[in-house]
Amino acid sequence: MVNIEILLRLEKEDDWREVELLTREAFWKKELIEKIGIGCDEHYLVHTLRKSPEFVPELDFVAEVNGRLVGNIIYSKAYVLLPDGSRHDVLNFGPLSVLPEFQKQGVGSALMRHSLKTAARLGYGAVIFFGHSSYYPRFGFKEAKDFNITTNKGKNYPAFMAMELIYGDLEGITGTYHESPLYNVNPDKAREYDALFPKK
Ligand SMILES: CC(C)(COP(=O)(O)OP(=O)(O)OC[C@H]1O[C@@H](n2cnc3c(N)ncnc32)[C@H](O)[C@@H]1OP(=O)(O)O)[C@@H](O)C(=O)NCCC(=O)NCCS
Repeated sequence: MVNIEILLRLEKEDDWREVELLTREAFWKKELIEKIGIGCDEHYLVHTLRKSPEFVPELDFVAEVNGRLVGNIIYSKAYVLLPDGSRHDVLNFGPLSVLPEFQKQGVGSALMRHSLKTAARLGYGAVIFFGHSSYYPRFGFKEAKDFNITTNKGKNYPAFMAMELIYGDLEGITGTYHESPLYNVNPDKAREYDALFPKK
């Protein structure tokens, strides 16, 4: 691994376009164009999440290398719905994006560790999300099943993970997980938004 100097800071409005461009580069998959008519929808998701009530601006970090934006992580508020109808608030994150030419150099890990540490310092109790099950356990994530939490459809699988930031925060919290409805991206709107970006 090449050693690079990574600067982490909060995202500013001036970064929005650049962050969406890098998110698009990070997630774009040619195979998806045939299926859904677009290589990814995560740049549109970032665009909509920032304006949503669930968005957590104090955890919206970018990574810079030599003055260039190369990564971003976005958090939003989510909750576990308990059998008695009450909600236990948690954090969700994603997308986490690193420009392809800067991947595998520690940028993703730096964004994860810094944002998790900041979230803990700000008093957030736990993080639950969907992601690569071979990447995130290194940060302390476990399957949500271990905490007796299921998806909103009552399912569990390795990509559905959770971690306590405050010890015991998920103790006795058994229920279904609910994230911002924006994660259910409208493909037509995503395609429309993508048309504003350089053609790939
Ligand atoms: C996943 C991602 C954020 C990781 O960031 P990164 O800066 O490349 O990661 P780091 O340099 O901190 O860590 C590198 C490690 O992550 C692993 N890794 C990278 N992408 C991975 C993936 N898709 N699945 C599993 N592991 C992955 C590498 O194999 C490497 O493992 P090693 O340390 O055992 O050698 C980045 O590759 C990315 O933006 N990918 C495309 C978008 C994406 O999939 N985002 C995450 C959605 S859950």
